[in-house]
Amino acid sequence: MDGNGRWATNRGWPRLVGHRKGAERVKEIVRSAPDFGIRWLTVYAFSTENWKRSTEEVLGLMSIFTRYIEREADRIAADGVRMRFIGDRSRLDAKLQRLMEGIEARTAGLTRLNLTVAINYGGRDEILRTVRALAEDVAAGRLAPEAITDAMISQRLDTHGLPDPDLVIRTSGETRTSNFLPWQAAYAEYEFTEMLWPDFTPAALGEIVARFGNRERRFGGVISA
Ligand code: IPE
Ligand code: MG
Repeated sequence: MDGNGRWATNRGWPRLVGHRKGAERVKEIVRSAPDFGIRWLTVYAFSTENWKRSTEEVLGLMSIFTRYIEREADRIAADGVRMRFIGDRSRLDAKLQRLMEGIEARTAGLTRLNLTVAINYGGRDEILRTVRALAEDVAAGRLAPEAITDAMISQRLDTHGLPDPDLVIRTSGETRTSNFLPWQAAYAEYEFTEMLWPDFTPAALGEIVARFGNRERRFGGVISA
């Protein structure tokens, strides 16, 4: 979800106004996702690199996340949405961590849509934490290095239990992947749109999903007859 800051700056408004508008867009996209056949949706809300922003912007974003969970919890549960979070939560404030755990537990049995929010997420950081955990098992004699498998790594990432993404969409005209699910998205299709995130509507999502449906995916194999 990129482009909130530019969206606001283009209008002469503070960046946080763009983030608030961006959060409204998330609500609309979450509500519309099942209509497009989406069962798994992951949104990148805050990266491990975003701490470099001003204190005002970081605190403003954290308060948007807090209010989003507080205000949307009932709706999320009523809509059958299972909410999860990925990323290193240990650096987030205690209240936000409690809200995150609370909504994860409350929605754990829901299946209409699986919504995952990446907060303080970085793909390298996630892989690093996983490698350390595996190394501890090896050092303690619980695991042999040659016994480590691809699946074992997937199971120890923050995304354990989630399928790998089929499609990754980045808004705002940037054509980088910026540390988003580098392990999991190894075979994902990518879509880059010039739209700034606060302009990204359910209709725009629908168009991209329709285009994705026409792509041919071979996963390194050959075209099946
Ligand atoms: C939103 O867009 C991404 C978040 C960190 C929430 P940006 O804040 O990166 O917006 P631009 O790139 O400055 O326009
Ligand atoms: Mg940006």
